[in-house]
Amino acid sequence: MRNNFGPTVVIAAMLAVLTAPASWAADAAMQKAAKERHENFHHLGDAFEGIEKEAKKRKPDMTAAQKFAADIDRLAQAQSTWFPVGSGPDDGIKTKAKAEVWTKPAEFQAIHERFLREAAKLKDVAAGVDAQALAAQVETTGQTCSDCHIGFRKKGGLLSLFGD
Ligand code: HEC
Repeated sequence: MRNNFGPTVVIAAMLAVLTAPASWAADAAMQKAAKERHENFHHLGDAFEGIEKEAKKRKPDMTAAQKFAADIDRLAQAQSTWFPVGSGPDDGIKTKAKAEVWTKPAEFQAIHERFLREAAKLKDVAAGVDAQALAAQVETTGQTCSDCHIGFRKKGGLLSLFGD
């Protein structure tokens, strides 16, 4: 007699084999995303520290400031890809990002957009020669870093400068 359950059982078994490694791979991809995010934020931190140092000088090196500002602007734009769904603390990922990044996406996006605007202005100001304007814009930009960290990053980071 023909076994009618045969194909169903075979398909179920195939699905089990196919989905198990797929979910494991997704997890690894999210861990990788969180690790890359962490590294990107360190580059951003370095660039911001660099421009802060220039801005504190009476005669800043505007060529150096321009390079840091370009890095900050580039990283600010890239930031929207650093928080894929599934890479948060609720997904079992080790991260300093708070769950609010994913549970309050509109607020997170609004503050990111503020950061984007200030980073673009910083790039403009760094292209000029006004040291005072540079210092003021570094300060305004830094405020967006801190504001986001207060709402969306767990305390205890290395940089107490940025809102810890
Ligand atoms: C829109 C939100 C947002 C903005 C704007 C933002 N950050 Fe962050 N930052 C985060 C989050 C969230 C983390 C935690 C990431 C993680 O651990 O996965 C973080 C982590 C960091 C870290 C790594 C700290 C550590 O050891 O984990 C540094 C450094 C940093 N940010 C610097 C900056 C600087 C400098 C700026 C501004 C020029 C900035 N950030 C702007 C949200 C933001």
